[in-house]
Amino acid sequence: MLQVKEALSKGLVGKKVRVRGWIYRTRSSGGIVFAVLRDSTGIIQVTVKKDAVADQQFESATKAGIESSVIVEGEVAEDKRAPGGYEIRASSFEVIGLAEAFPITEYQSTELLLDLRHLWIRSREQTAVARIKAALVRGGREWFHDNGYVEVNPPIVTGVCPEDSTTLFQLKYFDRIAYLSQSAQFYLESLIYSLEKVYAITPSFRAEKSRTPRHLAEYWHMEMEAAWVDNEENMKVQEELVSAMLRNAVDECPEELKLLKRDPATLKKVEPPFDRMKYEEAMDYLQKKGHAVSWGSDLGAIEERALTLDRELPLFVINYPKELKPFYMKENPEDPRTYKNSDLLAPEGFGEIIGGSERETDNTLIIERLRDKGESLDSYQWYLDLRKYGSVPHSGFGLGLERIATWVCKLEHIRDAIPYPRTVARVYP
Ligand code: 4AD
Ligand code: MG
Repeated sequence: MLQVKEALSKGLVGKKVRVRGWIYRTRSSGGIVFAVLRDSTGIIQVTVKKDAVADQQFESATKAGIESSVIVEGEVAEDKRAPGGYEIRASSFEVIGLAEAFPITEYQSTELLLDLRHLWIRSREQTAVARIKAALVRGGREWFHDNGYVEVNPPIVTGVCPEDSTTLFQLKYFDRIAYLSQSAQFYLESLIYSLEKVYAITPSFRAEKSRTPRHLAEYWHMEMEAAWVDNEENMKVQEELVSAMLRNAVDECPEELKLLKRDPATLKKVEPPFDRMKYEEAMDYLQKKGHAVSWGSDLGAIEERALTLDRELPLFVINYPKELKPFYMKENPEDPRTYKNSDLLAPEGFGEIIGGSERETDNTLIIERLRDKGESLDSYQWYLDLRKYGSVPHSGFGLGLERIATWVCKLEHIRDAIPYPRTVARVYP
């Protein structure tokens, strides 16, 4: 048995091959069926002539509609009109699972495709995105491994709120209330006192009520935390990690990138160093471009787009005003209105893919900020303990895997970067 990609390779002309897969499209004319077969590696044309296969096989070949599964045997021949330049001339065409009329046809509404997601994920675009995303993750894992980071498994059910409390999912946990994790950060922080450099890939949950093309309620989060690392070094880790992820996607997925019309040359350019721009400078830049922003304005999709539209490399925006960011960040001694933090914005207008910072080590400041937020300190005693027993400067960040995949794959909407997107409007299928 060969995979379609292998059957398409040069040197098999005149040879007999066996392939299996699903009918991608099919038509018949006269005594001949032209079926295009899809497997996980690609598509290939199969021609089934009436007199070349058993009668009953020809009969089922004419009846088998798209998505029917089949096993085909035949000789490879060159055919310039066929996708990939070769076809298989069938001597056997066995239908394994005859498909009912497939409910997805060429032009379908987005809503219908989301209702039929379990079938739509078979599409070539979705398949390409899945492979590219896997290659990004693998590139990231390898980079972490090569640089001495240990992969760890923080909990998903938690009692803490690292980010915005309005986006917490509450959960009935036996006879208590718990939350679905927004970020593994605090747990990763606790692990650096033994392992020093850790990372985790976990689902994160945000009850985002706004429907935007870059927010999911459930997304995959690649997070790292490291001891003895300041904010500047934290950014170096980010630029190296992102470049390594992209390099692996470009290496492993040239065909998939082509299918999605993403020029790999644009991704190959993404190498350190990335520019750094202070929040304050970002405000100046945006004001000059006519945006109605001032100190304290958050950077939303529109502002991030304006900051990155003309760029080929990602951009770090650093030192945000404290009121815009969570309580755990380290105060910036050079400008105490701000934190030692960074958001990494992907270029071409895309916007944020990473949020990171150096962490506050002064418990007095942490307690003050938690009180200001109206948080009960009870759930945070363990977090405060981390500063009592051998505290060290440390930093970390979180990268949204669907965010980076959306950017790399040039997708219009983040929902296409995950097989089953969870949004305010949808938990089916
Ligand atoms: O900027 P965020 O909220 O930062 C944190 O959660 C930190 N505690 C991470 C850390 O330092 N360990 O989220 C980090 C990243 C964002 O930059 C974005 O890429 C992604 O997570 N993200 C989302 N992705 C999809 N849908 C959402 N609703 C997202 N919210 C954040
Ligand atoms: Mg953020």
